[in-house]
Amino acid sequence: EKKTLFLGLESSCDETAAAVVARYPDGRGEILADVVLSQLEEHAAFGGVVPEIAARAHVEAMDRLLAEALQKAEVTPNALDGVAATVGPGLIGGLIVGAMTGKAVAYAAEKPFYGINHLEGHALTARLTEGVSFPYLMLLVSGGHTQIVLVKGVGRYERWGTTIDDALGEAFDKTAKLLGLGYPGGPNVEAAAKNGDTKRIALPRPLKGEARLDFSFSGLKTAVRQAAQAMAPLSDQDIADICAAFQKAVADTLEDRIRRSLKRFKDERLSSESEMPALVVAGGVAANSAIRQMLTALCNREGFSFVAPPVRLCTDNAVMIAWAGLERAAAGLQDNDMTMPVRSRWP
Ligand code: KG4
Ligand code: ZN
Repeated sequence: EKKTLFLGLESSCDETAAAVVARYPDGRGEILADVVLSQLEEHAAFGGVVPEIAARAHVEAMDRLLAEALQKAEVTPNALDGVAATVGPGLIGGLIVGAMTGKAVAYAAEKPFYGINHLEGHALTARLTEGVSFPYLMLLVSGGHTQIVLVKGVGRYERWGTTIDDALGEAFDKTAKLLGLGYPGGPNVEAAAKNGDTKRIALPRPLKGEARLDFSFSGLKTAVRQAAQAMAPLSDQDIADICAAFQKAVADTLEDRIRRSLKRFKDERLSSESEMPALVVAGGVAANSAIRQMLTALCNREGFSFVAPPVRLCTDNAVMIAWAGLERAAAGLQDNDMTMPVRSRWP
């Protein structure tokens, strides 16, 4: 059975990653190599990603990860059918490292180069891991993005909602920082919230009741800061209660927006009657179990299947970039474009 083989490279934020993925004619995929190097420790002291440090770390790691991925997959560049690299959106220094490396490999091995939108990578992952069919709804919640996207087909996306200020992961990280919990904040806030009372501190539910499907998290962060200041000095119990209240406010907000998105999906009769439509999650915040539980229950009530790829593939990786390249190639969407520029913003 003839399979198509792509190399993928990712370097848009604080993960350097390389992967080799195969796609079979029937649409099935197979991961042959998946290597990721997180720069968490380099950025931890700053409480967030520092672009210049990230770019330098990508330069140092990319060649080695590329070699490692090819070795694990037991392929040479000549055996590839294409090379895919993230060219946006993200931090420009990191994007340049991955894009130039990918173009160099493609040029040397005389293979087509695919410049991939990072968000398209997240959007299509569930087709590799769970074989989800179009159309489906995706909730992407990471450190850099908060979006509700209708995925109609390869290259056919409709953004239904986005954040008008902070990304959700960023809100978790900032909340953690102001409570003295370490970076990245999400897992620490979740752990602290387990011992907390969700009702002791009242926090807002931003944009609730509005017709649009957008998010806003900066007001929530400000409310957390004010609550923390009013309660200072904070005991462990105070911190737990603030985290529990924050997480509940976030879950309620997501619930509101997703419930209305599922309704819109049904109202617009986007999927066939015979098939159960799917809600797919992606991004680091999708690891949060309170959020997962809420989404699972919501989907059960609304007749959607809840699809969560393995956490390793929900967070940043190069498998999704190689896969997006394979899907685009199979759809005949894009060919060799060595002139494709990197872009920090790319809706
Ligand atoms: O997708 P990701 O690994 O990287 C990008 O931002 O692209 O997402 C990282 C974000 C961080 O903001 C982190 O705090 C958050 O995901 N996160 C969580 C959890 N685990 C990671 N947020 C809430 N609960 C978690 N368990
Ligand atoms: Zn991402």
